[in-house]
Amino acid sequence: MVRIAPSILSADFMRLGEEIRAAESAGVDMLHLDIMDGHFVPNITIGPFVVEAIRKITGLPLDVHLMIEDPDRYIKDFIAAGCDFLTVHLESCVHLHRSVHWIKDSGVKAGVSINPATPIWSLDNIISDVDNVLIMSVNPGFGGQSFIPQALGKIRMLKGMVMERGLSVYIEVDGGIKYENAKDVADAGAEILVMGSAFFNAQDYRILTSKLRERLNGK
Ligand code: DX5
Ligand code: ZN
Repeated sequence: MVRIAPSILSADFMRLGEEIRAAESAGVDMLHLDIMDGHFVPNITIGPFVVEAIRKITGLPLDVHLMIEDPDRYIKDFIAAGCDFLTVHLESCVHLHRSVHWIKDSGVKAGVSINPATPIWSLDNIISDVDNVLIMSVNPGFGGQSFIPQALGKIRMLKGMVMERGLSVYIEVDGGIKYENAKDVADAGAEILVMGSAFFNAQDYRILTSKLRERLNGK
């Protein structure tokens, strides 16, 4: 089953609790939380306190995407805040293997994310250690950007690598995903689809979620 993970980046932050409850009752599978520091990416969002507050109001798995420099400084805080998946960027970790194992040893699923210009082969020596790989299909920093089509080839290549090595690694894709291209992304091999603006700009989250499920059916 392909999982749907709305990114709250495009939610109405004045009504964040309501937005999250509405997404949950629409039947989504998890919530994607984008953490930006104004250094690794040119935008600033939320920190562990907000993640902790969200943890208290939803039973959905929390998928935390760290787009920050030197993530080791904050791994402990985000784990304490109650995330279920914690993803760091390959480009921001000097000792990636250590960071990944630190996350896993804390009982949280560990992910590695790669930017659009980072090749799949750079995952060669870390893929067997992670629970998920997050392929960025936009340059991280903002919601509402267009899907970069080269990401489809990267997803297929990653799927091949995972199958060939017999690994159980979730393939997650983030950026520019909407109803119209979701099936192509899933058919390429994605198992978790992050959806920010296309989800929270929809008129009715429940209708969108069930239409997406219909479209992705058979996966
Ligand atoms: C981008 C973030 C994404 C973003 C996706 O830097 O990592 O999670 O919220 O938003 P859309 O779906 O609007 O591209
Ligand atoms: Zn994200």
